[in-house]
Amino acid sequence: MTASTTKGYIGMGMEGPIATWYANSTRSQMPDFQRLARRISETAPRGGRALEVAPGPGYLAIELARLGRQSVVGLDISASFVRIARQKAAEAGVRVDFQQGNASQMPFGDNSFDFIVCRAAFKNFADPVGALNEMHRVLKAGGQALINDLRNDASEAEVNQHVDGMGLNTVNSLLTKSAFKFMLLKRAYTVDAFGALVAQSRFGAANIQREGIGMDIWLEKV
Ligand SMILES: C[S@@+](CC[C@H](N)C(=O)[O-])C[C@H]1O[C@@H](n2cnc3c(N)ncnc32)[C@H](O)[C@@H]1O
Repeated sequence: MTASTTKGYIGMGMEGPIATWYANSTRSQMPDFQRLARRISETAPRGGRALEVAPGPGYLAIELARLGRQSVVGLDISASFVRIARQKAAEAGVRVDFQQGNASQMPFGDNSFDFIVCRAAFKNFADPVGALNEMHRVLKAGGQALINDLRNDASEAEVNQHVDGMGLNTVNSLLTKSAFKFMLLKRAYTVDAFGALVAQSRFGAANIQREGIGMDIWLEKV
């Protein structure tokens, strides 16, 4: 194990059958991945380089690459997810450079990317300020990052309604609701807590917007 893959997450790692289960159960959210990919593709500079931090099975990065306006790189700490994402990109016939590594010790040079996205993952990072500082370091001047994550103050009823809209079967729906209730909501940040993390980081400030059960955190390297 290298320094870049030492435990960089809170709780259990997503390897083996857990990664396979997650890849299968989140496939039903493809319309969300496609919508977000279109938004990023229109926001990031045409011909630029985009990085997805913690892409898991790679659905968003693959949809972004399919749109063809940016070259796409993915960085995930899970060896299983890197393997799954590479296979899915090959099946889709698109080029995404999926690499294994830790969000708080990225294997990229300074000023490498025009845009960074991180979805449904940030609350799991063991070193959140380190991850923000790495995003800042690898972004080019003027580059933007978008972090989308669960809000700690989302109610159980809102979360259950969200999961009901995910198109899961009964077992996966129950497992997903339990994961939200017993793990994810406990780890999630409030808008204020996220703002405080950003204030400690090299970004200094963020534009944070509430979105359903989550929030969009927009960051810019000035
Ligand atoms: C819940 S999954 C989200 C996957 C994907 N972004 C999505 O929207 O479905 C969380 C991801 O964060 C990754 N992860 C956790 N800690 C990490 C870290 N320190 N560096 C990079 N990836 C990390 C996990 O391996 C996993 O792929």
